[in-house]
Amino acid sequence: MILPKPQRLDRHEHDGAFRLTGTTSVRSDAASAPAADALRRALRPATGFALPDADGGQAAITLSVAPRALDAEAYELTVTSDHITITGGDPAGVFYGVQSLRQLLPAEVFSATAVERDWTVPAVSVTDGPQLGWRGMMLDAARHFMPKEFILRLIDLLALHKLNVLHLHLTEDQGWRLAIEKYPRLTEVGAWRRETLIGHADRPEDEYTFDGTPHGGFYTQDDIREIVAYAAERFITVIPEIDMPGHMLAAITAYPELGNGLRPPQVWTVWGISEQVLSVDDLALDFCRDVLTEVMSLFPSRLIHCGGDECPKEEWRASPAAQARMRSLGLTDEDALQAWFTGQMATFLSDNGRRFIGWDEVLEGGGPANLPKDIVVMSWRGEEAGVEAARGGLDVVMAPCEYLYFDRYQSEDHDREPLAISGFVPLSKVYDYRPVPAALADEPEAARHVLGAQCQLWTEYVPTPKHAEYMLFPRLCAFAEAVWRNDGNGVDDFADFVTDRLRPHLERLNALGVSHRALD
Ligand code: ACM
Repeated sequence: MILPKPQRLDRHEHDGAFRLTGTTSVRSDAASAPAADALRRALRPATGFALPDADGGQAAITLSVAPRALDAEAYELTVTSDHITITGGDPAGVFYGVQSLRQLLPAEVFSATAVERDWTVPAVSVTDGPQLGWRGMMLDAARHFMPKEFILRLIDLLALHKLNVLHLHLTEDQGWRLAIEKYPRLTEVGAWRRETLIGHADRPEDEYTFDGTPHGGFYTQDDIREIVAYAAERFITVIPEIDMPGHMLAAITAYPELGNGLRPPQVWTVWGISEQVLSVDDLALDFCRDVLTEVMSLFPSRLIHCGGDECPKEEWRASPAAQARMRSLGLTDEDALQAWFTGQMATFLSDNGRRFIGWDEVLEGGGPANLPKDIVVMSWRGEEAGVEAARGGLDVVMAPCEYLYFDRYQSEDHDREPLAISGFVPLSKVYDYRPVPAALADEPEAARHVLGAQCQLWTEYVPTPKHAEYMLFPRLCAFAEAVWRNDGNGVDDFADFVTDRLRPHLERLNALGVSHRALD
């Protein structure tokens, strides 16, 4: 059955089934045209059916938007033996109705090549809509460059699971992946590393060995426009992340004057947290604003992610310029200096009609009270930062590593798994995750600030798209249901999820050629 589980689904066993044929016609109003296109695109390869426009005649499938009747992203889907009707609260709602309809067809409908068979849809009525508005996934395209074609495929897979945010982590110590016209060396130099560590970084450095193979790549601005448009057609917002002031070694290698001048930079070939960070002088801040200006011209999303995580303070402590900046601002420590930096970027973004979003370290150096009220905090080190931010009146996205970091192991038996960063995040743990923290159960005002949740795929140990699919699926399926339903009552049962929805869903992923992990 449909995954994520709809809020309500009634089967009408006695009403037979709708039979899709080469003459099945579709009528859509203007607002539903993107969903109609999506339906045709989705069904054509396997069925060969064109689903012609009804052109004033009787339509077999009717798609429409009824904003007064339904909420944004919500839909109703009714299937009888002679009609299919999808009504959405907005165009996204109709699109989600189409995703559900695809899943009511036999799994072979997801095949990329023609399949000869009968195509029937059981008679049902579905009333559905998401509990949370931010249903995201983050892809680290920086530790290992991920080709554009994979990102487009991933967008289709996110849409199938009714997720609506793709957060692209585009810059790192190990590579800068976004062409910036004003600073060509970011990609000429910063997009390439000489070689890559073999094996895990968590061992003595004198045991490190390297592969001797250069690694790199980047997205042109045209690539980004294509990705953003492709995502928008599937009701997915792409949120770019330019990580600052830490995780900047690739940029500093391209333009050493952006660093603190304490040691020679080199695009990193190992994993971990580099102590080499951005300077906080005017030149570095202007650089960040220039980059964000080009980023805003490419990405229409209101929110722009500026990282803020894991910025060691050793260099700022040792740098006379950073210390002078701290004194002139009357700040007492380097955490406050980072909070000041955050404020500078947040102000710049809001002056340009955008909003700052950052990892939870942005709370250090003063907490929510010390930050502009329109910033968004992504809570990754646990739930506590998200709770603190929400109580302090800031919007939050929950992304706690112990539940939603898909670079972690999927089995406790590490020998049976490809090398992963650490830990154990099994499917059941993802499924049982509840995005609105229990700590906010009696605080509706604060709970309102929880926009939703996001799963993360960091790619230090994930060098290829195929491997990325293995780490993502099926955990992303469990995440999609957790965030779509946000079922605080715990009535949804993991065993039921696996038998009723996930097993049939894996047939769909197989037809799509997704390299998912097998169930235990
Ligand atoms: C993070 O995992 N450094 C956000």
